[in-house]
Amino acid sequence: MTVAVTGGAGQIAYSLLFRLATGEVFGDRPVRLRLLEIPDAVRAAEGVAMELADSAFPLLRSVDVTDDAATAFDGAEAAFLVGASPRTKGQERADMLTANGAIFGPQGRALAENAADDLRVLVVGNPANTNAAIVAAQLPDRDPRRVTAMTRLDHNRALARLAEKLGCATTDLTRMTVWGNHSSTQFPDVTEVLRDGRPVAGDLDATWLEQDFIPGVAGRGAEIIEVRGRSSAASAASAACDHMRDWIHGTPEGDWVSVALPSDGSYGIPEGVVASVPCRSVDGEWRTVTGLEIGDAQRAKIDRTVAELRSEVDAVRDAGFL
Ligand code: NAD
Ligand code: LMR
Repeated sequence: MTVAVTGGAGQIAYSLLFRLATGEVFGDRPVRLRLLEIPDAVRAAEGVAMELADSAFPLLRSVDVTDDAATAFDGAEAAFLVGASPRTKGQERADMLTANGAIFGPQGRALAENAADDLRVLVVGNPANTNAAIVAAQLPDRDPRRVTAMTRLDHNRALARLAEKLGCATTDLTRMTVWGNHSSTQFPDVTEVLRDGRPVAGDLDATWLEQDFIPGVAGRGAEIIEVRGRSSAASAASAACDHMRDWIHGTPEGDWVSVALPSDGSYGIPEGVVASVPCRSVDGEWRTVTGLEIGDAQRAKIDRTVAELRSEVDAVRDAGFL
């Protein structure tokens, strides 16, 4: 399994790479890791490669570090696009979008030209959904569902918060959905959630849902930054492992997870945006769960986060990245 990870010297990669090397994501297959970094961070990434070697992981065959995307993506079957340009002081969101367009456009083209035919892409670097839209646009000959953005961390946060409220284990809960953007407009939706097979939504207080659960999940990333002093890293890496593992090995019977995919028009979400929807993984492919009934209150929340995604896509299109 040839696996490329961008941002190899960063804090998410420092957790992610060690878990990829254990076999917990790809199963009992030897793993070759390729770390892509900017030139200034190549040496630090080489230090991470040294630590990976020192761990003597039985399945880890090699770790290569490079600042050349074509080299990093050559033959890649999985690509975790983690490295991104952070928002700097005084920078507007639109500026951040275009700064990242300049990274994800060329990386998408390098993937198109060099990666394996069965490539799977997970974009983690923010703004993850729109970065993924840019990457997907560079891979027009491939199945669009092979380019995803990560909302699994939001999904996991939602499961954890609801389990705490109900006094149960996260594993007792199924069918959580996070809709839309990996941003403060996301809609963590408990409408379909089952606890041990029975719906929970009717037992939950509407005020708690509106004033605690939804803003608490959507604002968790900012809360972590405030409390920890740095953005979430180990939990983001863990969610990335969950996403890729389920993609390859399948979601449990009767359950689904949240995945940001290039929209196929389901649930009235326009094509062109990469929006989080409920998905099952079947035979190694993400399939949107269709046919869920969407009520007016859900519709308004989905429309709000999709409107933000549309405005992000418009901004990168205006800047020439789409
Ligand atoms: P970090 O700053 O610790 O590491 C990022 C690394 O990316 C740095 O080493 C940097 O040199 C590298 N990088 C920058 N531009 C690059 C390029 N063009 N090619 C290759 N590498 C490049 O950041 P982090 O904490 O690891 O977070 C990475 C990204 O993930 C951020 O954008 C963060 O906002 C995002 N994130 C997303 C989620 C999610 O749920 N989707 C959760 C947490 C963090
Ligand atoms: C998160 O959800 O923890 C991150 O996306 C937050 C951030 O801005 O890096």
